[in-house]
Amino acid sequence: MTLIKLFQEKKNRQSYCWIMRQAGRYLPEYKKLRAKYPSFLDLCLNPTAAAEVTLQPLKRFDLDAAIIFSDILIVPYALGQDLAFIEGQGPVLDRIEVPSDIQRLVANYDRFTPTCEALTRVKSSLPQSINLIGFAGAPWTVACYMLEGKSSKAFDRAKAFAFRYPEAFSELLDLITKTTIAYLKKQVEAGAQVLQIFESWGEAVPDCLVESVVYKPTQEILQSLKASFPHVPILGFPRGLGEKTQDYQQRTGVDGVSLDARLSLEWVKKTFKENVVLQGGIDPQVLVVGGDLLKREVERYRALERQGPYIFNLGHGIVPETPIEHVVDFIKYIKGS
Ligand code: CP3
Repeated sequence: MTLIKLFQEKKNRQSYCWIMRQAGRYLPEYKKLRAKYPSFLDLCLNPTAAAEVTLQPLKRFDLDAAIIFSDILIVPYALGQDLAFIEGQGPVLDRIEVPSDIQRLVANYDRFTPTCEALTRVKSSLPQSINLIGFAGAPWTVACYMLEGKSSKAFDRAKAFAFRYPEAFSELLDLITKTTIAYLKKQVEAGAQVLQIFESWGEAVPDCLVESVVYKPTQEILQSLKASFPHVPILGFPRGLGEKTQDYQQRTGVDGVSLDARLSLEWVKKTFKENVVLQGGIDPQVLVVGGDLLKREVERYRALERQGPYIFNLGHGIVPETPIEHVVDFIKYIKGS
């Protein structure tokens, strides 16, 4: 049984699990390979290395999916924005400050080639039982980084731009949306079998903009991908949208929703029925602490698995401090093996 089957049948014949950011700094083999590259971006853009990193967690753990090792900021990079990942600081981009800065952005799809090559390599070495996930950031989340120039808690600069220059902002979102559609299509052609759209900064969206900056562009991505690849399941991760998560699913048409840890499990249970695949929700700190807490949380989320199609995962990316033994326990609790 595979994840794809779960999307088709909407029935859990077994327990499924993968982990957001499953290839990353909590693994010594990742750190070792990463140290050979001057920067994180160099690693992402090397197809052989990116493929190897993607496969690292699968060598250790009984996971049901591989997620391609890349980053949501590859889209701004393909649009010609300067991008660097600085140690201890995260991503740094030459931020868009005024509407005329948008004119400088020109899509260069060649910049997607390394990730696509990595996908093809990974796909050829995966057994049929493990599906390959491709991904991209949702347009609002990607725009947040492009306008802010770095990570932020509230993305106020991005929000102010959206309010101050609505036309320019809509033009920017449109450009990101079109580029993302092209990127995701190339990922499917290269071997991606399932897609995930990360709306990681859903919590920064003002209520009056949620329709135009989240639902509409994501719906456009869905429509275009479904027209070309009707059988490729698409998961959305609308982090921080709270009870708007239901509208998000209905308005965008995503086949599955990745839950963040702040959503009430009771609300999720009564809101989503068996036609929507649910995923994730467990707080990454639970995996850091481990033990009984981890066991209890797995059992609490099992209620979703009993009710409809559900994939075990975290409510956000695994953090570097996570002990590897806790990941082993996590999968053991989930799969009973
Ligand atoms: O899940 C996976 O294993 C695939 C790899 C993956 C990465 N980034 C690798 C990465 C995925 C799916 C992403 C998505 C991503 N990137 C998101 C959406 C998911 C989320 O976490 O909300 C976002 C917001 C980004 C942007 C980004 N990339 C930030 C803010 C940072 C710095 C923060 C940090 O953790 O250091 C990155 C860097 C990054 N992307 C790392 C990894 C493994 C760490 C860099 C390193 O190894 O030096």
